[in-house]
Amino acid sequence: MDAFVVRANGPLSGTVRVCGATKNAGLKQVAAALLAPGVTLLRNLHPVLDLDAMLDVMRAIGAGAEWTGENELTIDASGPLTPEAPYELVTRMRASINVLGPLLARCGEARVAMPGGDNIGSRKLDMHFRGLQAMGADLEIVHGLIEARCRTLCGARIVLDFPSVGATENLLTAAVLAKGQTVLDNAAREPEISDLAAFLNRMGAQISGAGSSTIEVDGVESLTPIENEVMGDRIEAGTILMACGVAGGEVTVEGTRLDHLEMVALKLGEMGLDVSPTPDGLTARCDERMHAVDVATLPYPGFATDFMPLVVALLATVVGSAIVTENVFDNRFGFVDELHRMGADIRNEGRHAVVRGVDRLSGAPVRAQDVRAGAALVVAGLAADGETRVLDPYHVDRGYPDLAGQLHALGADVRRVRPPA
Ligand code: UD1
Repeated sequence: MDAFVVRANGPLSGTVRVCGATKNAGLKQVAAALLAPGVTLLRNLHPVLDLDAMLDVMRAIGAGAEWTGENELTIDASGPLTPEAPYELVTRMRASINVLGPLLARCGEARVAMPGGDNIGSRKLDMHFRGLQAMGADLEIVHGLIEARCRTLCGARIVLDFPSVGATENLLTAAVLAKGQTVLDNAAREPEISDLAAFLNRMGAQISGAGSSTIEVDGVESLTPIENEVMGDRIEAGTILMACGVAGGEVTVEGTRLDHLEMVALKLGEMGLDVSPTPDGLTARCDERMHAVDVATLPYPGFATDFMPLVVALLATVVGSAIVTENVFDNRFGFVDELHRMGADIRNEGRHAVVRGVDRLSGAPVRAQDVRAGAALVVAGLAADGETRVLDPYHVDRGYPDLAGQLHALGADVRRVRPPA
């Protein structure tokens, strides 16, 4: 059977290195490579299902995409490009929408299928559209395709209603080749945005303020392909911290930065997990059962929504009760029913959940519904009696190259079992 199989095996101990942030940073840099005619080389990328989907989109567009070394990917965007991302590919992964900005900037036109909703709520694209329109693009939805074209993209002042990560990225990658200056206000401040902007600047773009709410972009004539190393995966690092909270123990996580995880470390610290920086990452230690603390998700530097299912799993095992509020997505608590199957005591109403810690979860077959919810079920299994089988594991494979291997290296009894070939 295709599943993660998990059994409690005592406290975690040891050191792991996080992979590159392939899903949340790498995919966007692969798409941005379309802006530079020639060969771009990206390092610290790892094979996850969402990257496979993005590479298929790139090939459909006419860009070469090849692994040329361990964790090293080459994108050949010499052209000519076909600025079209079809429905079959876009529905595999929502981040395919990130080719819209680069294609419009490079080709003056793009046809990208509307991605549709997914398991964590409706995910609109209105801010992507309004921003591109403000830069002079004509946009319409025809037969399920976003058809965008422009004679020249022109810099504009754009205020986002909400600091959307995807809209900030799409507008940034359109603005780099626009005529004149673009000012993006209420921009997303996630570290992945700063990593993308640093990549674009090294290609010759003129971006300042990335990582703050106001990003200024002075359009340039062209960009040059470069070699770049993608940042370490802070979500993977946070997942390992949550696992340490659930199982107890002491772990060192390399290849990440504590300042990318400040709010998570703060909350986990209040709950009883001490997190401190090391030269190449962080170390965490938990000596006794943790206690409950309320959590509310917010855009960066707030508590990231991607950690919400994980912190719910953790809170399900600690002493006391907490309220968890989800402020970013409107329907992200579907996984709670799976935790109920493991004996968790969680009551969810709309954007809120009351989580009452229980003495012991009980292992059960459960189903992953999205990438982070799936990881949360794996983590919950670390503190459950008996065996937990997390079915539909491909959701986890979308973003984690080797979660089972990493937890196993820390002493956890976690296996990724696959059906015979
Ligand atoms: C990215 C991340 C995802 C993370 C999320 C928020 C990737 C591949 N995905 O997703 O892991 O959970 O950021 O940190 O990097 N919205 C609108 N209109 C828009 C755009 C967004 O209403 O035009 C809403 C969405 O419906 C959602 C909220 O804004 O409720 C946040 O979405 P956004 O920040 O854009 O998330 P993604 O970029 O899709």
